[in-house]
Amino acid sequence: MIDYNVFEGKVAFVAGGTSGINLEIAKNYARYGASVAVMGRNPEKAAAAAEEIRTEVSGARALGLSADVRDPEQVDAALQMTVSEFGKLNIVVSGAAGNFLASAVDLSPKGFKTVVDIDLLGTYNVFHLGFQYLEKEGASLIAITAPGAVQPHPQQVHANAAKAGVNMLIKCLALEWGPAGIRVNGICPGAITGTEGASRLFATEERQLLEPIALRRWGEKREIADAAVFLSSPNGSYISGTILDVDGGMLLGDASNDCLTPTVRPQ
Ligand code: COA
Repeated sequence: MIDYNVFEGKVAFVAGGTSGINLEIAKNYARYGASVAVMGRNPEKAAAAAEEIRTEVSGARALGLSADVRDPEQVDAALQMTVSEFGKLNIVVSGAAGNFLASAVDLSPKGFKTVVDIDLLGTYNVFHLGFQYLEKEGASLIAITAPGAVQPHPQQVHANAAKAGVNMLIKCLALEWGPAGIRVNGICPGAITGTEGASRLFATEERQLLEPIALRRWGEKREIADAAVFLSSPNGSYISGTILDVDGGMLLGDASNDCLTPTVRPQ
């Protein structure tokens, strides 16, 4: 059972936290008592996200910062602002992502690089620069990855290659920074309703996409945010270098497999 004040006096920095899953993660840390900074490219969106957190979570301390994860100087400035406002960081989430559908023959090298720069280099920038501002003992770092890190998809060579790199980055940093008391983990969201990723990547009706999901439903942003709270809390204190799939069983494989006879298929 998680204590509702578990993050009282703690500071969370959420890159990409101005919308979608990452904003819900930031809100959840605030609900459990943390001061939160959300960072995104658009300054108006960043300010609005911080305001939304303060409105929805009574007594929350929230800061909205604008920076591009691809630019180390901008990221460093945002981290510095967070520390001067709230103090050293206990939680850092790297969730900024860029994606679109494009076949490899049509995708320019610059298009490929753009997504790798946002997803992979951006995560490196946030964690590498964030390291110096951490309250190291007990710190929790979380990168948001994707099923495409381990499951190939057509028209996703750029994003899937980048997320595969993110998975390895998580494990290498967990190994290097574990001795300092820092835990580094990943969360792999499946199909989540009301997200930018879903609207960009899935052209079909949601119902048609249920078959590959063991639980036969899409996930909610809050279910990803609850996983983040668990991983960053003392309940997750012995978990490091892990990618937690929060996908309703999507990565288990095709749950509609026709080889299953009606007798073994659950009704
Ligand atoms: N198909 C093919 N190539 C594309 C593309 C698409 N749909 N969208 C962008 N690109 C290419 C561009 O053509 C350009 O390459 P080129 O100059 O060789 O033609 C390159 O990518 C950079 O595009 P640009 O628009 O300048 O990049 P940006 O930094 O402004 O935007 C993106 C980054 C492209 C990832 C943009 O989609 C974005 O900002 N997304 C943020 C939100 C998001 O993607 N969320 C997804 C969550 S899963």
